[in-house]
Amino acid sequence: MKGIILAGGKGSRLYPMTKAVSKPLIPIYDKPMVYYPLSVLLMAGIREIMVITAPADLTAYQRLLGTGEQFGIRIEYGVQYVARGIADAFLIAEDFIAGDRCCLILGDNMFYGGKLEEQVREAASQSEGATVFGYPVKDPRAYGVVEFDKDRNVVSIEEKPQKPKSRYAVPGLYFYDEHAVEYAKLLTPSARGELEITSLNEEYLKRGKLRVQLFSRGLAWLDTGTPAGMLNAAQYVEAVQSRQGLYIACPEEIAWQQGFISDEKVKSIGTELKMTEYGQYLLDLVR
Ligand code: G1P
Repeated sequence: MKGIILAGGKGSRLYPMTKAVSKPLIPIYDKPMVYYPLSVLLMAGIREIMVITAPADLTAYQRLLGTGEQFGIRIEYGVQYVARGIADAFLIAEDFIAGDRCCLILGDNMFYGGKLEEQVREAASQSEGATVFGYPVKDPRAYGVVEFDKDRNVVSIEEKPQKPKSRYAVPGLYFYDEHAVEYAKLLTPSARGELEITSLNEEYLKRGKLRVQLFSRGLAWLDTGTPAGMLNAAQYVEAVQSRQGLYIACPEEIAWQQGFISDEKVKSIGTELKMTEYGQYLLDLVR
């Protein structure tokens, strides 16, 4: 299974910050924003990842993430020249996906805790159809919203409805079988001029191939794409990390737990960074 991090996008809700810094490189507390979605893909066991970025940000991502060697994975880069929507990622990444199954995560979505690892691994193991998630939020109007019947079957999925049919927002984390590129090519731009990920999910729904899994209650899904969302996420990370002494979204740690990198590798990265808290944290893992 391939992974895609869509780190492009308009970033308009963070303007003027995004004029100075690429959105997913903006820090959330102590790490670049893109570390959070990257960590989720690693947790799902995905080792081939394409980061899709706006042209101006490409070199910054390459400097930060390199070839992925540090995390025991392979990272490639794709460029989205025009912000044509989330489903455009499948057109950009067609050669990279090469007929494989694929997981897409948005560069500004943060997930932590609960049964996250179990749930993403289960989704990644499905050989057919699409798996998306449902998460209750107080105001779902800014999101894709899923409607269920009384037996929990999916009835509809709507993008940013004025009158949401449920409280269940669809977070920016999607798993697809090998048909995603083919269906993405069928889509036409929405009223806001974008190839909507919700339209791709509707293609799966039409064919009876859309599963919606509810995220467990103890799981945190935070949208870091607005100034208030960024602050909330940073405060959440700080509170959990300083209480537990465990990092949220340390990709080297997750790669090591998954067996993608060895004790020696963690030790050598930690030693290089030993003047930093991050380096000390890595060294403590393998001490
Ligand atoms: C996008 C999707 C929406 C999804 C949301 C999750 O919205 O279109 O369906 O619920 O991400 O963050 P955007 O933030 O691009 O407007």
